[in-house]
Amino acid sequence: MKKIALYVVATALVMGLAFTGASFATDDKGSAEMTLTSTVDPAKKAKPAIFPHAKHQERLECADCHHSKDADGKQVAYVEGQKIEKCESCHNKAAGMPKKLTTFKEAAHASCKSCHKKTDKKLAKCSVCHPKKK
Ligand code: HEC
Ligand code: HEC
Ligand code: HEC
Ligand code: HEC
Repeated sequence: MKKIALYVVATALVMGLAFTGASFATDDKGSAEMTLTSTVDPAKKAKPAIFPHAKHQERLECADCHHSKDADGKQVAYVEGQKIEKCESCHNKAAGMPKKLTTFKEAAHASCKSCHKKTDKKLAKCSVCHPKKK
């Protein structure tokens, strides 16, 4: 956790210097809070995931989660201002993605869950993202 905090401070400083005076007007940061649901290859029983997007943006780079693909279907790193598509528009069973990345669930678990696991095992518990219905 300490490492991450330092990283955030360093990133914030760099970003602050780089963008002093620049305009953020055209930047679309997306919704602050989301509930993610699979619609293309849904499981029989839906398991919506809560996602505090803004909170993650405070400490991470857009490129930590967002990317694109080229005409050959190869992954392309995020560049500022790129069009952001839904994960499952590429990560779906019809798109010929490699194993463990073929659905929204798999892509999300590979991204969200593996970072949570690295950060703190408690953050990788199902109920962190899939809260139990009350
Ligand atoms: C921790 C991962 C993560 C980070 C960091 C992140 N995003 Fe996202 N973002 C997502 C996910 C997941 C979605 C939802 C995708 C979907 O619905 O398939 C999303 C959706 C979006 C959307 C689509 C609009 C919307 O509200 O649905 C925009 C625009 C966006 N992000 C911009 C950004 C920008 C700009 C940054 C950096 C400042 C950023 N995101 C950082 C994970 C992230
Ligand atoms: C425009 C298409 C496209 C979109 C949209 C997309 N991906 Fe990907 N993604 C790819 C491609 C292509 C690869 C590389 C697959 C391979 O290894 O051949 C990839 C690889 C990955 C990987 C493994 C490599 C890595 O960078 O860790 C993860 C995890 C992943 N995507 C998660 C996501 C998540 C989460 C979202 C939504 C926030 C998303 N992807 C949106 C095309 C896309
Ligand atoms: C690169 C690392 C990383 C990725 C990717 C990531 N997270 Fe997180 N997430 C974190 C960290 C670190 C925290 C802890 C924040 C804190 O305690 O302040 C967190 C916290 C959360 C929380 C709990 C927030 C709270 O206030 O209790 C939820 C829910 C969550 N993430 C969902 C997701 C989902 C869903 C995705 C994928 C779409 C995702 N995360 C991707 C690092 C990540
Ligand atoms: C860090 C966040 C996170 C954690 C932890 C996590 N998931 Fe997920 N999970 C997601 C996201 C994001 C999706 C894709 C959106 C959706 O369908 O909910 C998903 C999708 C799923 C789906 C598919 C749901 C559907 O409607 O198709 C299942 C099933 C699932 N997760 C089970 C689990 C189980 C079981 C655990 C614990 C062992 C777990 N998840 C832990 C974020 C997480």
